[in-house]
Amino acid sequence: MKKVYFDNAATTQLREDVITCITEVLKVEYGNPSSTHSYGRSAKSLLENARKDIAKLLNVSASEIIFTSGGTEADNLILNSAVRDLGVKRIITSKIEHHAVLHTVEWLEKNNNIQVEYVSLDDCGEIDYDGFEKLLTNSDKKTLVSLMHVNNEIGNVLDIDKVANLCKTHNTLFHSDTVQSVGHFELDFTETPVDFAAAAAHKFHGPKGAGFAFVRKNSGLRSLIHGGEQERGLRAGTEAVYAIAGMAEALKISYHKLEKERKYITELKDYFKEQLTFNFPEVKFNGNCDKNESSTYTLLNVCLPITAEKAMLLLFQLDLKGIACSKGSACQSGSEGGSHVLNQILSKEDLSKPSLRFSFSSFNTKEEVDYVVDVLKDFIDNGI
Ligand SMILES: Cc1ncc(COP(=O)(O)O)c(C=O)c1O
Repeated sequence: MKKVYFDNAATTQLREDVITCITEVLKVEYGNPSSTHSYGRSAKSLLENARKDIAKLLNVSASEIIFTSGGTEADNLILNSAVRDLGVKRIITSKIEHHAVLHTVEWLEKNNNIQVEYVSLDDCGEIDYDGFEKLLTNSDKKTLVSLMHVNNEIGNVLDIDKVANLCKTHNTLFHSDTVQSVGHFELDFTETPVDFAAAAAHKFHGPKGAGFAFVRKNSGLRSLIHGGEQERGLRAGTEAVYAIAGMAEALKISYHKLEKERKYITELKDYFKEQLTFNFPEVKFNGNCDKNESSTYTLLNVCLPITAEKAMLLLFQLDLKGIACSKGSACQSGSEGGSHVLNQILSKEDLSKPSLRFSFSSFNTKEEVDYVVDVLKDFIDNGI
């Protein structure tokens, strides 16, 4: 059966060079980086080189990169320690953050009595920057802002420089969940004054189970996991050297190929939009997906003009045809929850239609787009 993978915002395929790198480390570098003998020193050197490589790509110091198991752990480390160790009493965030942030903030609100303020959003999920600035000025409480750079469901790109500079002006800490942007967008954390950021290797063709937190020097953040002194005391536990080496390799390749791949994937996304609009004139693109300047080139969230009843069968049909993408609307699954992101921004009517998230990588082709459009056409026009 033909198989098409359009779910790269969920996770990505490993690049061949990354697999080679990981396998080599697994075979040869099995020392514990905390051991002082030659095996340990060699693994430690690998680890520190990975840290230096990643730091260089983000224009920060190696000591500001703390390896974690992925994006969720990095977000948790930053948000929890900001409250516990930095005296943060108030968090400004948005209702369309990934659950790694949203649920952590809700937990902190409930258990640590943290005041939580949500920025206002328009029906594209764009934040109201004036309202945001007002929130920055109207409290004396020590505040942390947590706003994601690229939204994983609708692909909106935050004006991270603007937010970081506003936070700096108002002496407010700023954390950005950059899980969907590291490896896909140029980031310079010296130019953009974020205090904290989170990343996950599996979103840029690296392995699962590896990620990092960017933690600005002298921030005062402390470990949530107690044990050894690994990661400068910020994250106890023996590091997954093979996965970290693979992550650094993946990030180097991603940035090396960034311009070429961005151009290729942007063309693919534009072609997909064109084909959908041509075949289904009533199709809608959720969030900022139809505005290339404020949406990631890697993702297209589509609201299809079909009834809720038919929608139930759609994902099933796509899966039967070997197409992997993500569902995104509230009512199609019949479940109470649905997408917390689309629930915030779509009208009741659009929520009753199926929304699908297609997310791309350089491994995808125009032929795959044609195949998906044909399958959708068959389904929508002929019910098969
Ligand atoms: C924006 C965002 N933040 C955080 C995460 C969580 O990352 P991980 O799966 O590495 O824990 C994801 C993963 O989907 C994400 O897209």
